[in-house]
Amino acid sequence: MSVSVLFVCLGNICRSPLAEAAFRQEAERLGLAVEIDSAGTGDWHIGEPPDHRARAIAQLKGAPIDHLRGRQLAEGDYYRFTHIYALDAENLANILARAPSDATAEIGLLLDCVPGRAGEPVADPYYGDEAGFEITWSDVSAAARALAERLATN
Ligand code: 4NP
Repeated sequence: MSVSVLFVCLGNICRSPLAEAAFRQEAERLGLAVEIDSAGTGDWHIGEPPDHRARAIAQLKGAPIDHLRGRQLAEGDYYRFTHIYALDAENLANILARAPSDATAEIGLLLDCVPGRAGEPVADPYYGDEAGFEITWSDVSAAARALAERLATN
């Protein structure tokens, strides 16, 4: 079965584009054929590029995201993707609340992929400073590595 992964946060301009980029990097490293995308539960940033601080850290880590554009989670995503990962518990609750009853995607919390970090959120860095984006990158890359390795061995 082909695997497709959607990362979902609130605005789709900070955390989920970074999760998308980190996971693409890991999937390429392991030679995984996987479709990867990100979306937001909110609609404020539809069509916008990622936050400049997210773009800066992604560039620094060798996974540029300047080309990405914000989009909102859509009903079709629940069928198009095999896995949907929420960046925090509020996003997860929203994703589950909007899920069609016959959704086929497996829906979960991103950091549940990381041993010892189940239930933890990837904290929203939007209202903080650049240091918060380093933490975001660290969190999403730990999850990306664990997820890619799990998918590679299944
Ligand atoms: P994200 O961060 O969910 O990681 O993309 C946010 C971006 C924008 C807003 C909130 C969080 N906002 O309120 O506009």
